[in-house]
Amino acid sequence: MSRMATDFATPKSVDAIRPEIADAGDGTVAATLLDRHEPKIVVLVAGAVPEMRPLQEHTWETFSIPWQTDVRIAFHWLREMLRKPLQPGSRVIVVSSAAALGGSPLSGGYAGAKTTQRFMTAYAQDEARRADLNITFTAVMPVFAPVTGVGRPAVQAYAVRAAQSVDEYLQSFRQRSGPPITPEVAGNELVKLARADAATIAPSYLLTGAGLQALR
Ligand SMILES: NC(=O)c1ccc[n+]([C@@H]2O[C@H](COP(=O)([O-])OP(=O)(O)OC[C@H]3O[C@@H](n4cnc5c(N)ncnc54)[C@H](OP(=O)(O)O)[C@@H]3O)[C@@H](O)[C@H]2O)c1
Repeated sequence: MSRMATDFATPKSVDAIRPEIADAGDGTVAATLLDRHEPKIVVLVAGAVPEMRPLQEHTWETFSIPWQTDVRIAFHWLREMLRKPLQPGSRVIVVSSAAALGGSPLSGGYAGAKTTQRFMTAYAQDEARRADLNITFTAVMPVFAPVTGVGRPAVQAYAVRAAQSVDEYLQSFRQRSGPPITPEVAGNELVKLARADAATIAPSYLLTGAGLQALR
């Protein structure tokens, strides 16, 4: 269970934010909250923290955690947003992962689950187009954000595997891929995307510390 901020208008103050306590993977929650708040912008960001270990040390239960959480949440919310449907002109952003592009060998089913989220976003866009719903769906694929729940244990596990300290690992990450993402960068880029002209929105984006880059 988690708090989900569900005022999708631009809040003028924190008073405008109305939190909800709910399990986003519960099939009934998406319909209830979409009806209650009638959002024009929905950002699906909730996801599980994967167990970090090599393939042979996973059980099916630990391997499939991201499927039971991230894929399940995307499934229920995308489905309900199409069935309802959201108002014309609405914008939906699904936070997948750059792991979907290159794999993540220590996080079990995570990379595959995030790949499936990207596919599901494209399927939802296609269904919206076919039904003439005028809803824009896009997937965002962030690289490491080492200070948040999913990124912190991942950076620690990959540092151990590379026989480096976390600082050394992050330094080599910076040399290869530029600055890692901070929550501020992620928030600003998602707000920009939510406000962009729908005609300019790509099906998916890579998100790095330098910002968004459209993937075709
Ligand atoms: N950090 C990274 O390096 C990174 C990189 C690429 C992609 N991502 C993706 O970005 C998203 C956010 O990652 P993060 O690092 O910010 O993770 P985080 O700090 O662990 O935040 C994830 C949030 O999702 C919530 N959540 C999990 N299951 C839920 C459920 N069933 N219902 C409602 N809320 C639920 C958690 O709530 P509780 O705390 O209550 O469990 C937590 O607040 C995830 O989808 C992740 O896969 C992260």
